[in-house]
Amino acid sequence: MTKTLYVLSAEPQCGKTLICLGLVSALTSRTAKVAFLRPVAEPAADGTDPDIRLILEQFGLDQTPDSAFAKSAEQAAGLVASGGRDELFEAVAAAHAVLAAGHEVVVCESGSASPGGEGLTFELDLEMAKALGAMVVAVVSGRGKTTAQTVDAARMAASTVLRQGLTLAAVAVNRVEAEPSAQAAGLLAGCLAGLPGLPDPPPPVWTIPEDERLSRPSMAEVARRLGADVLWGGDRLDVQVGETVVAAMSVGNFLDYVRPGCLVVTPGDRADIILAVLAARASGAFPHPAGLALTGGLEVAPSIVRLLSGWADIPIPVIRTGMPTSPTLHRLEGLVSRLDPGQQGRVQAALGHFEAHADAGGLAQRAAADTDAAMPGLVFEQSVIARARALGKTIVFPEGGEDRVLMAADQVMSRGVARVVILGDVEDMTRRAAALGLDLSGATLLNPATHPDREAFAATLFELRQGKGLTLEAARELMLDKTYFGTMLVHKGLADGMVSGATTTTADTIRPALQFIRTKPGFTMVSSVFFMCLADRVLVYGDCAVNPDPTAEGLAEIAAASADTAARFGIPPRVAMLSYSTGASGKGPDVEKVRQAVALARARLPDIPVEGPIQYDAAVDPVTAAEKMPGSLVAGKATVFIFPDLDTGNVTYKAVQRATGAAAMGPVLQGLKKPVNDLSRGCTVRDIVYTAAVTAIQAGEADDAPSRTAREAS
Ligand code: ACO
Repeated sequence: MTKTLYVLSAEPQCGKTLICLGLVSALTSRTAKVAFLRPVAEPAADGTDPDIRLILEQFGLDQTPDSAFAKSAEQAAGLVASGGRDELFEAVAAAHAVLAAGHEVVVCESGSASPGGEGLTFELDLEMAKALGAMVVAVVSGRGKTTAQTVDAARMAASTVLRQGLTLAAVAVNRVEAEPSAQAAGLLAGCLAGLPGLPDPPPPVWTIPEDERLSRPSMAEVARRLGADVLWGGDRLDVQVGETVVAAMSVGNFLDYVRPGCLVVTPGDRADIILAVLAARASGAFPHPAGLALTGGLEVAPSIVRLLSGWADIPIPVIRTGMPTSPTLHRLEGLVSRLDPGQQGRVQAALGHFEAHADAGGLAQRAAADTDAAMPGLVFEQSVIARARALGKTIVFPEGGEDRVLMAADQVMSRGVARVVILGDVEDMTRRAAALGLDLSGATLLNPATHPDREAFAATLFELRQGKGLTLEAARELMLDKTYFGTMLVHKGLADGMVSGATTTTADTIRPALQFIRTKPGFTMVSSVFFMCLADRVLVYGDCAVNPDPTAEGLAEIAAASADTAARFGIPPRVAMLSYSTGASGKGPDVEKVRQAVALARARLPDIPVEGPIQYDAAVDPVTAAEKMPGSLVAGKATVFIFPDLDTGNVTYKAVQRATGAAAMGPVLQGLKKPVNDLSRGCTVRDIVYTAAVTAIQAGEADDAPSRTAREAS
């Protein structure tokens, strides 16, 4: 599973760009497949996000700038304000899924704002990290703080992350005093000690000192910020400026306030100060100022212009802003220097500075070793869409008379999930689509009743089922049935999979597939799973839809099929064979059946942990597991739950769905030669879209050969 590292700034100006730069550098040197995502981009005046530009250009990442963000800060704030938080999270998960599909690690960078500040809050970023199942690198700043205040800030950020149940990968205490005392360094390094919920071993604390080469803005950045003209020294705009000094006094007094690397701000008519600053720069007896900003939009006296025009090499940049002095100072407050890929000297200095103080290599190794990490429901849903898009399969929807199906078909096509065939009365479907404002122009609309291949399909069905007493006449009748017709399209390779059941029962939906698509090699039965998409993980429940009362052999086969399905969808299978009894505690035929099924399943799945009989609480809860089944590889961390019969499974999935609000994706049928999937009659448009995506993925696994499309065949 793709790892996600979320660099999360707990306060403004803590230098998270440096941390992202260092992390991506460390990761790209270990794995070629790293992607960068700003869930919420912060575009500059030119419309691009400087951090996205920096990271993508610096490391030549294999992604477009547009793939590196989900929404702009403005869009995100608008969504949050208008109750569109779910839409925001879905967009973030979708952008993440696209990157996760082709990369081993996705590094996410949080927004810049602090709690209560503009834009997104720390809490919202935390929730996004959780929704993406990310490990968090929390960044705090030591700038302007005492050691005790810095320790408090780091502990508070870490404990907030841990309280959310997130994995804390590291804490970066950035911009600390350049040379802390040994005692301060010790306090900072051990600042997480005793925090509840810390993993063992605890995450590292990186203490990264302030490096003025990185924090000081350049004169180019100052000029941009002020919207200033460059009057002289345009070839020296890379020079970095330190503190700002306002020259209001007379020259004689002002010169004593010149500091090394300072930016002098003075009204444009202060010819005396202009000359004094240039003289100070030329003199060996004075600290060298870095730049001069003239305010008020005032013209420099012609005599001074003439004087300077004869000076071959003006030693510092001189810029002019239309703003008076006070607003100029206000505008410069909080000006943060940006690392720019065009300034390789600074970028290399930043990388060297990070590497000297942070062991990100260790973090990369820990992320790779974290194989137990669960995939949150939102990530799973979006990863299913992203995988399906890459396959370009064709899905048939037999229920064209149903509005939800038409709406879903529209979304399936517009999101690129699959090509679409819809069955029904073509005129009716076209009229209905227009009334609903849908664009079905890309879909193939077929009417089984008038389809030219209906007779040939009936002959095929007769051939396949005559041994079961089916007559040709009955086969012709069945081919008028939309579900039989759709299933035949799949059987003949004219569609890659079928999604139906919005209006028909499970039995009627899957019976044709059982009758003539049949089971694939190695399977004697068709069963099903639901992907239960919880906020923090996805659980696989089988069989909650097909087999009313499986035998021990049947349960073992359901376990094997469900473990296989889980693994194919990126969920590491740890199989719990459920019962009302855990371990050896219970007796009776029902428990015996599960016990026997466990033995058979273990024989079928030698490399996958299978546990049972086990009760649901012991399977899912680590505390109960430690009590009832210590040492089990499954108890407390099961991912695949096999119910002893259909009653238990069906009741449980609906109860969990309703109690937790989890999306229940399925029933996903397993064991068929080609994919046919059922829908609940209460399904939403969204359910249909996800089921189509799951079906496309199954089709990709069932048959690598591209199918002829129904459009070609019709
Ligand atoms: N795997 C493979 N083949 C099967 C299976 C199976 N699990 N079950 C039946 N078949 C085959 C049979 O062998 C038979 O093949 P044949 O005709 O070539 O001999 C064919 O399918 C038809 O078998 P029947 O027993 O006649 O099938 P029937 O249609 O009566 O029932 C079904 C099969 C639909 C799976 C039935 O067991 C059923 O209704 N299960 C419960 C469905 C349900 O209501 N689920 C709960 C709701 S789902 C939800 O909540 C979303």
